[in-house]
Amino acid sequence: MSVLIICPGKDAKKWVEALKDLEPRINLSVYPEVQEPENINYAISWKHPRGIFKKYPNLRVIASMGAGVDHITSDPEIPENISITRIIDEQLCKDMSSFVLSLVMNKVRNISLHHSARSWEPLMYNQVEEEQIGIMGLGTLGEAVAIKLLANDFKVSGWSKSKKHIEGVQSYNGERGLSEFLKRTTLLVCLLPLTSETENILNKELFEQLPKGAYIINVARGEHLVEHDLLEMIDKKQLSGASLDVFRNEPLPQEHPFWKHPRINITPHIASVTDPKKVIGQIFENYKRMLENLPLKNLIELRKGY
Ligand code: GLV
Repeated sequence: MSVLIICPGKDAKKWVEALKDLEPRINLSVYPEVQEPENINYAISWKHPRGIFKKYPNLRVIASMGAGVDHITSDPEIPENISITRIIDEQLCKDMSSFVLSLVMNKVRNISLHHSARSWEPLMYNQVEEEQIGIMGLGTLGEAVAIKLLANDFKVSGWSKSKKHIEGVQSYNGERGLSEFLKRTTLLVCLLPLTSETENILNKELFEQLPKGAYIINVARGEHLVEHDLLEMIDKKQLSGASLDVFRNEPLPQEHPFWKHPRINITPHIASVTDPKKVIGQIFENYKRMLENLPLKNLIELRKGY
């Protein structure tokens, strides 16, 4: 029985330390140094090399190091019988909701625009109550963001695959629900899981259904956004701008037009970052559950992608 930590390009040391703190005797390998692949039955993973999991014939569980699992589910070679888990963590919810709140307030009170204008010319702004925030994706993080925005006097609605019941939040779902939802949304926050259905969902056709001057916040995945559609819609003033924390290519290449765009705010994928020490408890608990053949917590469905 052995645990594999696999996160090329990321510092594995913090994960090793956190796990060893909990269980000093644990049998651990860090990719690519795996002596006995047949002993690996539990992998803690972030952006593994495609197809690699086939090399571990006794692998039973892949635990994502983060809230997102698209880095796992997008690999067509993941064996069907493997369980996949994600992180659900209060701190991630707090970080995400305060981050989105600050982006929303920045937009509403034109803070970035004032900073870059360097002039004593006040810009007009809407009252908080006049904005209608629309959250796409009402999972754990989406719900936390909705609650935070409601507590700060915003009107909040949400769109998700199935209808959700969150007090104070108007919930929309499905194709028809999407148009209704978009029609009233002045500030759109994307927190959808990345699946084949949601890839490229932030596109021209969707932007055209928003009221003129709407604003986009993407804190989900870069692949949700059709980048040239965003630029076109901002140029045509259908959108007033965007705050983006996630990109198709990260780090965002220096020559990318987003960097220089006066209406696009960029942050380097910092909305909510997993702290290994905080989440290792739930990862280790699932490891023990696997050994005892108990149901795992925070499971996702490979086929659904979330
Ligand atoms: C970060 O993007 C995560 O999925 O945890």
